[in-house]
Amino acid sequence: MNDLEGKHIVLGLSGGIACYKAAELCRALIKEGATVQVVMTEAAQQFITPVTMQALSNRPVYDSQWDQREPNNMAHINLSRDADAIVIAPCSADFMAKLLHGRADDLLSLMCLARPIETVPLLLAPAMNREMWAHPATQRNLAQLSADGAHILGVGSGYQACGETGDGRMLEPDELLDDVIAFFQPKRFAGKRVLVTAGPTFEAIDPVRGITNLSSGKMGFAIARAAREAGAQVTLVAGPVSLPTPRGVTRIDVRSAREMLAATVPQAELADVFIATAAVADWRPANASDQKIKKDGSGDTPQLAFIENPDILATVAKSPRALSRELFCVGFAAESHDLEANAQAKRERKRVPLLVGNIGPATFGADDNALLLVDEKGTRAVPRASKLELARHLVADIASRLNRS
Ligand code: CTP
Repeated sequence: MNDLEGKHIVLGLSGGIACYKAAELCRALIKEGATVQVVMTEAAQQFITPVTMQALSNRPVYDSQWDQREPNNMAHINLSRDADAIVIAPCSADFMAKLLHGRADDLLSLMCLARPIETVPLLLAPAMNREMWAHPATQRNLAQLSADGAHILGVGSGYQACGETGDGRMLEPDELLDDVIAFFQPKRFAGKRVLVTAGPTFEAIDPVRGITNLSSGKMGFAIARAAREAGAQVTLVAGPVSLPTPRGVTRIDVRSAREMLAATVPQAELADVFIATAAVADWRPANASDQKIKKDGSGDTPQLAFIENPDILATVAKSPRALSRELFCVGFAAESHDLEANAQAKRERKRVPLLVGNIGPATFGADDNALLLVDEKGTRAVPRASKLELARHLVADIASRLNRS
């Protein structure tokens, strides 16, 4: 299912060069299942035409409070009444100032003021020059708008159309899409700190070779995203994978199991929930060479000896905070056979309250999966779905366990 299925979004454009990104955002919202009604200010129409936005949204654009298409001539009322959210992207400095003062001299500002404040949230994607963004007036307006209940989506940083570099760019359409999707997710982890390990580890044989596994990290990254969407502060300790960091998640990149352990243990001291999805290499070469191992022409092959890596989950699970359930630990089990029996045995061995079993070879690299939740009472199967859907399901399950305890 698309993440915005059934949602009706009013997309407001105020004047700014970032209007060109609003076209892409409109498309992206629709692709995720939303219906989009575009409302533009006069200034926005200097940057992009209503024709473009009408074609993309498949609906006539509104730009005047005197629009006679509405039988009661009250576009400012009618447009917001069936909206699930109003998203202003771009939101110019001037438009923010207008919102702040409750001014209502054009359709977009009038509609924002006339919206039912309890049921129609207002999301703002500011876009402006870095000096305008940093100006005390803008920052003051932002703080007050936020206090008045608007949801500020933040800004990007980098090269600006004016040629300067700094904060104030509008977020990219895909970032805004993720933020809008996240906005609608229930905040089951509000105030919680969640730590996730993800991906494979890489154990060096020499500076150019090593041992790793086929874990893609997708499940762990999806869990980090779902936890963040649910309102948690999330730290993701990631092995070598090339996945993008989910929005709002703090990422620590590591390579080996020992590096992962060193990054995880101090973070676990601060966390409320630890979810170990990483496919940590069980063994590492006993004597990694500092220099590349060369063929000597004799035809002899190098003899590799291995030693066992530390068990990160088991280490954290026996810490005092985990034992007292101040820290709730969740393990994963990638099995190739006998999932239920192996997962239950692993849960007991690792001493974690919840273990999530899956068939490893079938899921590595895939975008979907099926899970088996194993706790002291028994097992529950979660049918095949996308990894993000499963991650949200798991977040909901863990949150209800936290509430019960
Ligand atoms: N794990 C870990 N550190 C390790 C090995 C595993 O933190 N050195 C964690 C994994 O992140 C996962 C759980 O322990 O949450 C189980 O991992 P898995 O590889 O399935 O189990 P192993 O303990 O390695 O057992 P085996 O390979 O024998 O099945």
